Amino acid sequence: MIKKSKMLILTITLMILATIVTGCKSSKTDSAKENSTTPTVAPTNKPTATPKPIDYENATIKDVYKDDFSCGVILNGWTVNDEKWQNIVKENFNSVTCENEMKPDSLLDRQTSISDPKYDEAPAVKFWNADPILQFAKDNGIKVRAHTLVWHAQTPRWFFSEGYSDAPDAKLVTKEKMLKRMENYIKAVMEHANTTYPGVIYAWDVVNEAVNPGDGEVNGLRKKDSLWYQVVGPEFIEKAFEYARKYAAKDQKLFYNDYSTDEPGKVVYISELLSKIYKQGNIDGIGLQTHVGMTSPSLSQIDSSVRDYAKIGLEIQVTELDVLTHENTKEEMEKQAVRYKRLFLYFKNWKKQGINISNVTFWGLADGQSWLTGLTGEESFPLLFDDEYKKKPAFYGVLQDPKIPLY
Ligand code: GLA
Repeated sequence: MIKKSKMLILTITLMILATIVTGCKSSKTDSAKENSTTPTVAPTNKPTATPKPIDYENATIKDVYKDDFSCGVILNGWTVNDEKWQNIVKENFNSVTCENEMKPDSLLDRQTSISDPKYDEAPAVKFWNADPILQFAKDNGIKVRAHTLVWHAQTPRWFFSEGYSDAPDAKLVTKEKMLKRMENYIKAVMEHANTTYPGVIYAWDVVNEAVNPGDGEVNGLRKKDSLWYQVVGPEFIEKAFEYARKYAAKDQKLFYNDYSTDEPGKVVYISELLSKIYKQGNIDGIGLQTHVGMTSPSLSQIDSSVRDYAKIGLEIQVTELDVLTHENTKEEMEKQAVRYKRLFLYFKNWKKQGINISNVTFWGLADGQSWLTGLTGEESFPLLFDDEYKKKPAFYGVLQDPKIPLY
């Protein structure tokens, strides 16, 4: 009996010992496994690079987003000659857009065009207004978004009329003649820009604001106030892209640009239109103007529309960003900074998730220069600087400064 129980105790002890040993072994194996999956740091003599904390007081917009997308702003005939604005642009931006100077009403030269019948199908162009901005960009190694070739607005009626007549009721030309004028206009503008400023322009807004479902057309296109549509018909858009591709430099990207690109109805029409042109190989991206309010449209609505456009294969650029408010209180300016911070968080996340967002451009430097005051008839404060060239909280929101809350 005693022998038997001694045997039993011995057996149990051995079993316990075995369990402990096995346990130790298996835990050793686990930690070995863990070690094998932990990335090993290759021996190096270089000190490990810890990212330098950002000094938000001195950080610049283009540096903060250097790995994500280029950052731009508009310039006009006045800001391009103001030394303080020049310095702010050079510090913070690596892309510029002419506010008005590359629009048809600025480039078309009526006086020369009516001087000789040889211009009847090939309008003359002048670059007096655009040249100082393009030259500034060239001198400072800043790239240009060229805005905009074909647009219903800021395009004179005489461009569509027989003999370039500026009489308000002058007869409009035929579709065939207008397409010739369009092609030759695009050719002249691109040739001047690309020979005088080679390598400076990286993107062209080929067509601006051609979709307007409110006009009630089945294709969702703008008709009522568009002489392009009325004279040429809906195919003016495809044609503009075809000509732009023909005359653009190889590395220049072609964009369709519009406002309210996040409105669900508009997304459908724009997507349909751009898918077709994308399949023809004549468009690279969509410009989202992004003139937004303090709370509307929602970020999720903007986000969902961008995902739809990216699915087509389009590159994304935010081309005319501003956040409208008419209040200039400290609280409101802080809220605006939060709105900017959230927007840029989305832009950065799109990039991280493989959406090809390549540029974000602000439609103005200082509040006092914003087009929104004229549009709304009320003083507006939508931008990053005040009129004393001082950075507003919005500037720090754009930088993702932690002192601006996200919620
Ligand atoms: C639209 C145009 C821009 C500019 C703004 C208002 O968004 O695309 O060129 O005219 O309106 O300034």
